[in-house]
Amino acid sequence: ADFLVLNGPNLNRLGSRETSVYGSQSLADINTRLQTVAGELGHGIDFFQSNAEHALIERLHQAADQDVDCLIFNPAAFTHTSIALRDAVLAGELAMIEVHLSNPASREAFRHRSYFSDIAIGTICGLGAFGYECALLAADKRFG
Ligand code: DQA
Repeated sequence: ADFLVLNGPNLNRLGSRETSVYGSQSLADINTRLQTVAGELGHGIDFFQSNAEHALIERLHQAADQDVDCLIFNPAAFTHTSIALRDAVLAGELAMIEVHLSNPASREAFRHRSYFSDIAIGTICGLGAFGYECALLAADKRFG
């Protein structure tokens, strides 16, 4: 199957950004691990991170045209704000697993609403970088 790992704003700063909340692994570390696991399982996997909402929307349109089987998507702060990204997922009829490193439910109230949880297959949060790997294994189980 073909998977796309999509990361939103500020996640390019993982490894140095609020490490007590988000852990010490960089996004490159996380993606290297996912590439290895996807390779072992025989899946194609692509990676995209942007701080710009429009770039993420364009990548979602591309994913729909490329028939990506499942998104592993951490929309970061856009989780709580972006109807446009939600609409792009819906427009592309893209299956998605939502991932958050932290557990938004245990943080500020403005993080409690997600525009993605109700359209996701499932949400993995609070498990740090390992959450991405869990999402990939879940995608393998479902789309493998
Ligand atoms: C996050 C949680 C969001 O609330 C926050 O804005 C992020 C990261 C997470 O992975 O824990 O940037 O999506």
